[in-house]
Amino acid sequence: MNTHSPPSPKAKKILGGVATDQRHDSAHKHVTGQAVYIDDMPEPAGLLHGCLGLSTCAHGTIRSVDLSAVRAAPGVVEVLTASDMPASNDISPTHRHDEPVLAEDKVEFYGQAIFAVIAETREQARRACRLAKIEYDEEAFVTDVWDIDRRNGKLVTPPLTLKRGDAAAAIEAAPRRLKGTMRIGGQDHFYLEGHIAMAVPGEDMDVTVYSSTQHPSEIQHMVSHVLGVPSHAVTVEVRRMGGGFGGKETQGNQFAAIAAVAAKRLGRAVKIRPDRDDDMTSTGKRHDFVVDYEVGFDDDGNILGVDYLYAARCGYSSDLSGPVTDRALFHCDNAYFYPAVHAQSAPLYTNTVSNTAFRGFGGPQGMVGGERVIEEIAFALGMDPLEIRKRNFYGTDDRNVTPYHQTVEDNIVREIVSELELSADYAPRRDEIRHFNARSEYVKRGIALTPVKFGISFTATHFNQAGALVHVYADGSVHLNHGGTEMGQGLYVKIAQVVAEEFQIDIGQVKITATTTGKVPNTSATAASSGTDLNGMAAQAAARTIKQRLIDFAAERYQVPTEQIEFLPNRVRVGNQEIAFGDLTQQAYMARVQLSATGFYKTPKVRWDRDKGQGHPFYYFAYGAACAEVSIDTLTGEYMVERVDILHETGRSLNRAIDLGQIEGGFIQGMGWLTTEELVWDDKGRLRTHAPSTYKIPLASDRPKIFNVTLADWPENTEPTIHRSKAVGEPPFMLAISVLHALSDAVASVADHRICPRLDAPATPERVLMAVERLRKEASQSS
Ligand code: MTE
Ligand code: MOS
Repeated sequence: MNTHSPPSPKAKKILGGVATDQRHDSAHKHVTGQAVYIDDMPEPAGLLHGCLGLSTCAHGTIRSVDLSAVRAAPGVVEVLTASDMPASNDISPTHRHDEPVLAEDKVEFYGQAIFAVIAETREQARRACRLAKIEYDEEAFVTDVWDIDRRNGKLVTPPLTLKRGDAAAAIEAAPRRLKGTMRIGGQDHFYLEGHIAMAVPGEDMDVTVYSSTQHPSEIQHMVSHVLGVPSHAVTVEVRRMGGGFGGKETQGNQFAAIAAVAAKRLGRAVKIRPDRDDDMTSTGKRHDFVVDYEVGFDDDGNILGVDYLYAARCGYSSDLSGPVTDRALFHCDNAYFYPAVHAQSAPLYTNTVSNTAFRGFGGPQGMVGGERVIEEIAFALGMDPLEIRKRNFYGTDDRNVTPYHQTVEDNIVREIVSELELSADYAPRRDEIRHFNARSEYVKRGIALTPVKFGISFTATHFNQAGALVHVYADGSVHLNHGGTEMGQGLYVKIAQVVAEEFQIDIGQVKITATTTGKVPNTSATAASSGTDLNGMAAQAAARTIKQRLIDFAAERYQVPTEQIEFLPNRVRVGNQEIAFGDLTQQAYMARVQLSATGFYKTPKVRWDRDKGQGHPFYYFAYGAACAEVSIDTLTGEYMVERVDILHETGRSLNRAIDLGQIEGGFIQGMGWLTTEELVWDDKGRLRTHAPSTYKIPLASDRPKIFNVTLADWPENTEPTIHRSKAVGEPPFMLAISVLHALSDAVASVADHRICPRLDAPATPERVLMAVERLRKEASQSS
């Protein structure tokens, strides 16, 4: 053993520490098909397959259920209904007891699961499902918030009110006032890997569940409740998801619970993987909203008072609708100061699948409502919307308090917007577009520059905690585990970078391992963009504990003061000699030093009193801005996104390559939401858009023709986050609001920018065309 290895002249820096553009650890495996998703895992002997039987009635009492043909079908081993759930038939994530695993005597949406077939093959299970004979006493149902009295509708969870000052009086006294209503559509997550769970029974009460989930601990708790066993009997593991986007925060519970029940009952492993149509029909989506707004402002475009009602399609149960509608209200201000504000949510019950988390968690809908108000003011005054935006930005002193009474302390929205305005040539292009539109009869162009200010933290304070487990093996290689899950966002590689940095070893020495409830307990969902902030700190703490033990050991062994011990790239300097990292760990092992540690982190500062509507729900804010230019064909409503310029900040980025990917991906996903992705329910309450044939996500050809994405390199997090970086998962999604507003700008040009197009979202080509027609008509009537 060479304990005096000379410093290698090449190893000046470790490979893959923090602030390096380390590629995603699985990038090559994603593109070559070597990445193992749950359906790729070797199947246990005797594996059975499940399929869920779904309701064909939107609301009603189940009169009779005849499953005899299902039971008699080839390959069927078992058919489960609600009464087969051993201890509980409830998987409500917020413990409101409003979400059955399988429907009991009533169904509340078309597509609700009523029974589960377990068969020898997946094909047999699916075929058998179709043979059920179920009769319903149908009742009246409602799928669309538009058809509900929004102020007095049935709610799934208590509403929230935010207020500061006297909004009604401020609006009343304002020189100018206007009000309106905006509809904002929902969105399907369209993860490439759909939901899946595979349960493997163990001895006694034990079961191991492989689940495509953002929230292994919740799957563990739900399975344990349904089975009636302690949490210790249930182990949940997930190596990676093929996309989650919020759709796998709670929606995996049902598949996992049923697979576990069947596995324990039959003593065989059970896998459930719904096909795409069933996944889209029976799992929750982004909430659609109807926003009623009223604003009072002055002749210069300064907002004086504003009032909002945010009504959301929550579906038949609460799921995460409370926190989602809360977050919508938290973002109705976007980057703007409201001197007086009253904002209220209405989380409405509808006979649709229960809506859930989706990137931004209600924040995007909140912001879209706030930006509509900006646009309305601009049209009322005949000013550029960007001017109105700038006038109303949060400022200092008395202009920095949010509707939830948190002071904005890290505001850089002005700097971001002015830098982007210059780099994107906003002003000259606005002129060019005006000239272009004057010459071009059918094709019209539009431009918009919109900011984003997004709050980072879970609003439920207790979720802001994380744990990690780090082992250093005697050979110096490291096993890293933490509570965060990998869904493509690059969390695993970022945390590995943090640990590599701490020990000053190459990232190849750090083994990224699957998330499992058996290694780190009581974890939060990987959500609210806080995965890196939370787990990065926890992993760093674990690594530091081990590092300190190594320092103490070396100091004693070599009789040098601890100040003379320094971690150099892949080696450790101890006094005047250098020891390879792996040699030091080997010596530490021989000396019986513990080389394994846990780490823990909880976010400071956050607190929230929902009853008062006041507190400090966000640790900090993430900022960005986007400038989009579009062209529309006024004869067909079709459009192209010609150019997009983005300036987004991620503090001192841990990994700019990953962050850029999140910004580009988030933007495109947001653009899909606001342009082409439309959910349609028919008069039977059936979702008709349950496959890519009818539900249009963005294609490669829909991306902006010119797409300039820049990371603002000057800011750092003012809070002591992990290496002063900032969260990036969700904020860029909302940069796509610029596309909606650019479309609106193009439409407005047909009436000389005198009428606000009031374009609802998604601004599909049909909606754009109808808006063009409406504006032309209104303009001709008024002239
Ligand atoms: N990026 C990819 N590729 N796939 C995903 O499913 N989910 C988004 C975002 N980026 C997602 C993604 C959502 S909704 C969140 S909350 C964050 O990633 C979660 O991960 P983080 O906290 O590690 O950023
Ligand atoms: Mo993301 S919507 O918080 O999973």
